[in-house]
Amino acid sequence: MEENKQVTMPRIGDPAPEFKAVTTQGEINFPADYKGSWVILFSHPADFTPVCTSEFMTFASMEEQFAKANTKLVGLSVDGLYSHIAWLRTIKEKIEYKGMKDVEVKFPLIEDITMEVAKKYGMIQPGESSTKAVRAVFVIDPKGIIRTIIYYPLSLGRNFDELYRVVIALQTADDFGIATPADWRPGDDVIVPPAGSCGTAKDRMEGKEKDVKCYDWFFCTKPIAKEKVLSTILKK
Ligand code: BEZ
Repeated sequence: MEENKQVTMPRIGDPAPEFKAVTTQGEINFPADYKGSWVILFSHPADFTPVCTSEFMTFASMEEQFAKANTKLVGLSVDGLYSHIAWLRTIKEKIEYKGMKDVEVKFPLIEDITMEVAKKYGMIQPGESSTKAVRAVFVIDPKGIIRTIIYYPLSLGRNFDELYRVVIALQTADDFGIATPADWRPGDDVIVPPAGSCGTAKDRMEGKEKDVKCYDWFFCTKPIAKEKVLSTILKK
């Protein structure tokens, strides 16, 4: 039986581990090459598999949408470069799926046959598979700090609208100094930080702070218009 060794994995708030790699778009030096941009570094289990194909077609179709939010995409699997190239060519030339066709994957796909990068990022999770990466997602900010980590098992395709929501919510939190509640989408009320002093908390509770609504002393929200959120994020 495989020993389930304790491994060090990057965590939220850590600098993204550095690596150099060969990709379908040439060599990259990560995260240095992405300084100033948000990046989604994500792994998939294997080329020429159905769930991964549906994911790549979906993600590639949304690349422009992520680019408008200053977010670049970087994929990885433990397959080799020629497998990546052949798979992406097959997707472009042969696969029509859910109205998507002629889909060109323009973002880099890392070859990681040694699993060096996958292991560095905790993408190999032996309880699921010791020979394939799980579906890991690392959202990394323009300073190279890991801001969100999500893992999915091999059988479960990701929701890319959710990944877009994560990117927009993180940027909104940074730009407006707020937090975002459950299921938040641009245009919904946001959570304001706790009041700094008793006086402020009391004013808030009594509705004296403009636009702030309190459900209790620890739970206050305010509106930010969708246009304001999107114009701040998408026009940077
Ligand atoms: C898939 O992408 O379809 C897949 C890959 C590895 C294991 C199971 C499913």
